[in-house]
Amino acid sequence: MDRTAEPVISLRGVSKDYESGAGVVHAMREVTLVVQPGEFLAMVGTSGSGKSTLMNVVGCLDRPTRGTYHLSGIDVGGRTNDARAVVRNRLIGFIFQGFNLLARTTALENVELPLQYRGVARSERRRRALEALTAVGLGDRVHHTPNQLSGGQQQRVAIARALVTNPPLLLADEPTGNLDTRTSLEVLALLQHLNRTVGITIVLVTHEHDIAMCASRVVTMSDGRVVSDQTNASPHNASSELARLPVVEDSPSSAPQDSLADPRERRRRLLGGPIPFSVFAAAFAGTLGGVALGVLYDGVILQRRIVWIPLLCALLGETFVAARYGARRLGGPLTRDQRGRFAVTYTVVFLTLAASVALVGVGWLPAAELHRLQHASVPGVLALLVALTLAVSLARFLLVTFFSPKAAE
Ligand SMILES: Nc1ncnc2c1ncn2[C@@H]1O[C@H](COP(=O)(O)OP(=O)(O)O)[C@@H](O)[C@H]1O
Ligand SMILES: [Mg+2]
Repeated sequence: MDRTAEPVISLRGVSKDYESGAGVVHAMREVTLVVQPGEFLAMVGTSGSGKSTLMNVVGCLDRPTRGTYHLSGIDVGGRTNDARAVVRNRLIGFIFQGFNLLARTTALENVELPLQYRGVARSERRRRALEALTAVGLGDRVHHTPNQLSGGQQQRVAIARALVTNPPLLLADEPTGNLDTRTSLEVLALLQHLNRTVGITIVLVTHEHDIAMCASRVVTMSDGRVVSDQTNASPHNASSELARLPVVEDSPSSAPQDSLADPRERRRRLLGGPIPFSVFAAAFAGTLGGVALGVLYDGVILQRRIVWIPLLCALLGETFVAARYGARRLGGPLTRDQRGRFAVTYTVVFLTLAASVALVGVGWLPAAELHRLQHASVPGVLALLVALTLAVSLARFLLVTFFSPKAAE
């Protein structure tokens, strides 16, 4: 059998009924629709006309009540949930209005997820996810989390995630519903490009006329039925529409705008949010590594014990690791506020530990120093502690800043 000649979607007399408290809702009535490979189809219709229901059936998320559905020649209408999940995973990419990205997860990890479900090896996952993100123009944002990206960028991550498995069919339910005009056109230009170059079949739900005019076929639904099905001989070109838009100095799509309207979110972004415990743990590993290197240098190369060398190495090690690991973990360099909090927290915890050990009487201080300390006045010791805290915190802050990678923006 020649699969290439097969329609991607073939719905024949498909109905979908929902039981609800008020009775049966006929969300789809006797829909017959055939979509050939490489088509770019827009679904339009008023709210409640059954567009999402149709997308759910086509996307194998829901089973038709009556009628038959073939996806690339495979009869999926009657299959079990598991069998439909396999078909869905192989053949379909989804993008949604709300992007549906995992919040605390980088763009790269979000895009890797569908490959992880398929059991693709780690290095291969990474390579393909990077490729997909580069294809949607986000090669320089792969370590950003969704809240560090604008709406348009988030939708492009979602598109990369939908495409990373190379599905022949892409389903998009109001993908530009949350985006402004310019960003919508950018997303659409990307979809048009994919449709024309890769030949991926696209079914896109929209309520915007301008968006629908970019498709090569427009299907209108009303009350669960297909009421019109028209070929658009000269679809609008989204990238030329984009070029015709008035130029804005600071393009809204280049800055995360939706989340910045919220003052809490703005504050959170300025402060940079909490520092994950793993950053402190990684820094501690840097401390140990630094001390070890310093002691080695002292003992093996210099063959003397110069106490400030291991201490300095520890400081360099922990600040380097904190800056680099922190940037990877958080998807971007630590903010100034985060660097400050890291420096003070780390210093206070360390001095507290050191002071406790000294109080317990473990003799890590040279005898003369210990003697001087025991006979010093309380205000004197306090002043010394405060000065030490400030000086060491400042040193840590400056070093973390020095080692931080430059911001991507
Ligand atoms: N899970 C459901 N249970 C009951 N009724 C539903 C369900 N999903 C959709 N409907 C109903 O089916 C009709 C079509 O809905 P939908 O496909 O979401 O329309 P659209 O996406 O075009 O706005 C609506 O009347 C809606 O209330
Ligand atoms: Mg809908």
